[in-house]
Amino acid sequence: MTLEIVILAAGQGSRMKSDLPKVLHTLAGKSLLEHVLHAADELKPSRIHIVIGHQAERVSTSIDTSQTKAEINWVLQHQQLGTGHAVAQALPGVDTSSNVLILAGDVPLIQSATLKPLCEPGSGINLLTAVLPDASGFGRILRDSATGAVTAIVEHKDADKQQRSIREINTGVMAASATYLEGWLSQVKNNNAQSEYYLPDIIALAVQAGKPVSAFAANDVLQVSGINSCSELATLERHYQRQLAENQMANGVSLADPGRIDIRGDLTTGRDCFIDINAVFEGEVTLGNRVKIGPNVLIRNSHIADDCLIEANSIVDSAYISAQCQIGPFARIRPDTRLHAGSKIGNFVEIKKSEIGQASKVNHLAYVGDSKLGRNVNIGAGVITCNYDGTNKHQTIIGDDAFVGSDCQLVAPVEIGAGATIGAGSTITRDAPAGKLSLSRSRQIEFDNWQRPVKGKAK
Ligand code: UD1
Ligand code: CA
Repeated sequence: MTLEIVILAAGQGSRMKSDLPKVLHTLAGKSLLEHVLHAADELKPSRIHIVIGHQAERVSTSIDTSQTKAEINWVLQHQQLGTGHAVAQALPGVDTSSNVLILAGDVPLIQSATLKPLCEPGSGINLLTAVLPDASGFGRILRDSATGAVTAIVEHKDADKQQRSIREINTGVMAASATYLEGWLSQVKNNNAQSEYYLPDIIALAVQAGKPVSAFAANDVLQVSGINSCSELATLERHYQRQLAENQMANGVSLADPGRIDIRGDLTTGRDCFIDINAVFEGEVTLGNRVKIGPNVLIRNSHIADDCLIEANSIVDSAYISAQCQIGPFARIRPDTRLHAGSKIGNFVEIKKSEIGQASKVNHLAYVGDSKLGRNVNIGAGVITCNYDGTNKHQTIIGDDAFVGSDCQLVAPVEIGAGATIGAGSTITRDAPAGKLSLSRSRQIEFDNWQRPVKGKAK
């Protein structure tokens, strides 16, 4: 029996009080829907049907379908008449011989390993339930007091006092054959507190039809936590980040405080790395061995090789940092930058789309953009590569062992030869020859009879 998956993502998420559709809110840097889609795809279904409605186009264009192995089928639910109605909209696109797994787009941390046993074709419904300390708001699982068999699900708003005291809940995840689903969903009514067609009503219908309902218990509360409000999103984010921090520590990373690190993507680490407080990692980041990350550092889509030190308050974005480099404090490394081994970028330095050669130094208050620096280059304080003429960007090339004095402007396109020295305060508009001193500053003048004004004595 082939597996097809339906993900429900048509609701607005009115409890989020946001213009952004709920499933597009992000958790650990990815949208809720992306998380669910990833877990779904790992189950290798033949197709994934995503039911959209509220801001449908915004939701569908947010997903890069080339990232999923399964075929994605977008299903429009014009009016959000309930979860049962939503699944019914998807069924015409589902092969009648398929087994169907239903997931909610707002339960982001569900894992494929938890879902796998539910996908085994059965003769009734497989249902994922959980026991929560506070079950308020969820659909409750009703069981036969004698046999313990699941008999129905009652939504919180429709539940009486006794039912509300039940702590076993419907996670929203269930699986059944397409033909059974179709039959049961056609019988679901909307005579309830929310006037909606509830998907969980099919449980009672299956029981009436004499079909078995198998409840699978989810032990990990995080996996089945649904997001309905900003507060729930923030709470889940913190729990999830804690889990990611634990994974890093289990892998040998020293964290100054596992409660103050944010990983919004994939962080791969070598041995003996140290990460100080408030570090944020976005996208794909790799750290080599013995890398030290200072406090308040943001690293996005970058590779940082062995023995690098990134000091406090620095940003490294889409860059390749070779071994033994030092960056910061307060440095900004912008996209398409490559630092060769042992180079040093100091405080208040911005590097953009540049290559910094081995052991070269840009230590203080400089801007280096669209440049290629050789080895052992020294860039003084306050140096600026003037790479932009208002229309086009131009390159600056600096040869090995060149020394650029403080406060120089290098007006690109321009080349500084190997071993050249540029005197402090120069504006360089022509290529500077190798091995020579180039200067372009006005001469100093002394005034013999000048006196400093004295306070209160106007002339
Ligand atoms: C639902 C379940 C509840 C369960 C809880 C688990 C129903 C009626 N209730 O409640 O038993 O405990 O999830 O988190 O199913 N959606 C659509 N179209 C619609 C309505 C909803 O696509 O017409 C989507 C939503 O976008 C959302 C998901 O279905 O992704 C669940 O809907 P939501 O309104 O959040 O249901 P809950 O009240 O959380
Ligand atoms: Ca929900």
